[in-house]
Amino acid sequence: TKNRVVDKWSRPLRDLRISVTDQCNFRCTYCMPKEIFGPDYPFLSDLELLSFDEIETIASQFARAGVEKIRITGGEPLLRKGLPELLKRLRKIDGIHDIALTTNGILLTKLAKNLKEAGMDRITVSLDTLDDKLFGKINGRGVGVQPVLKGLAAAHRAGLKVKINMMVKKGINEQEVLPMARYFKNTPYVLRFIEYMDVGTSNGWNWDDVVTKKQIIDMIDRELPLEPVPGHYYGEVAKRYQYKDGKGEIGIISSITDTFCSTCTRARLSADGKVYTCLFASKGTDFKHFIREGATEDDVYNRIVDVWNKRTDRYSDERRENTDSKRKKIEMSYIGG
Ligand code: GTP
Ligand code: 5AD
Ligand code: SF4
Ligand code: SF4
Repeated sequence: TKNRVVDKWSRPLRDLRISVTDQCNFRCTYCMPKEIFGPDYPFLSDLELLSFDEIETIASQFARAGVEKIRITGGEPLLRKGLPELLKRLRKIDGIHDIALTTNGILLTKLAKNLKEAGMDRITVSLDTLDDKLFGKINGRGVGVQPVLKGLAAAHRAGLKVKINMMVKKGINEQEVLPMARYFKNTPYVLRFIEYMDVGTSNGWNWDDVVTKKQIIDMIDRELPLEPVPGHYYGEVAKRYQYKDGKGEIGIISSITDTFCSTCTRARLSADGKVYTCLFASKGTDFKHFIREGATEDDVYNRIVDVWNKRTDRYSDERRENTDSKRKKIEMSYIGG
């Protein structure tokens, strides 16, 4: 029978998001602004990163505690050397039946086939606009949209299931909501819109920058009528909508206006080996030094159970209720979203 490790609010542990690097080849203005993540930024050294052995050990014990899904994140996870090798190992862990990855997509033309062969099931590609100039500005590197679209196609050809994540920020890319919906409507790719969130402390988040789920739906529905459809599984982050003509669906991730903490089953492992029980956490629990100082598999398992049993996080709910504390939070690029 399935292990049921639950937290203080009875939420089971089901998903593990593993960040494999804190580096990225983009400098998205809302995530890793150039001014802060410049040439002198102290990124993690190779020694500070968890090794594949360490990741495998931790992931195995998470699986023993109930985790079924793994998502690889970054930074940009495709920058991590030898990633397919790690996937092969994760694939073999008992109880893991879904492995996904979140990427900006530009290395997929090179890597999609290797990922698929190593056991990857699906990927999610971030794309905030179809406008080359705007995209180049957002990603801070002047990169156009083509490399991403080519990456998508390569992933699809390799047999990976593909989703697109579009973060929507007022005054930046809200005018791109409808063009994106039109563009992806008759493709094999499911497009999801993300409300701009107050992750970290370096993006200067403000309520006025949020385009709400309702506004996004209205923009699309006027031209392409939509209707809600039931979720796929317990704890699904995106609310699903399908086009009334039966041709395709979209998702909205509304962590601001329609929070989903009550079913949050996600733990996050940072590239330097700390476990965080919320995207908005300020402190994690160390596993790297624990293992390097000789912790056994059972020790790791017990620490996971302990961390999860004590978990009370419900940050987005608290923000909505205005009871959130103004604490320092971890950065998106550090924990991978
Ligand atoms: P599926 O397994 O395909 O349903 O993926 P997912 O939606 O769980 O993962 P994905 O990385 O695509 O999530 C998209 C975005 O939703 C993330 O980059 C975050 O911005 C946001 N998100 C995911 N999980 C959480 C969460 O637990 N809390 C909050 N506030 N936002 C989240
Ligand atoms: N709010 C919402 N989404 C964000 N992302 C990065 N920063 C934010 C934020 N502040 C998105 C990226 C990518 C995913 C990993 O998270 O656009 O799609
Ligand atoms: Fe890199 Fe993704 Fe952050 Fe952009 S949003 S800087 S692609 S990690
Ligand atoms: Fe989970 Fe924290 Fe996001 Fe709520 S805010 S859904 S507890 S990660």
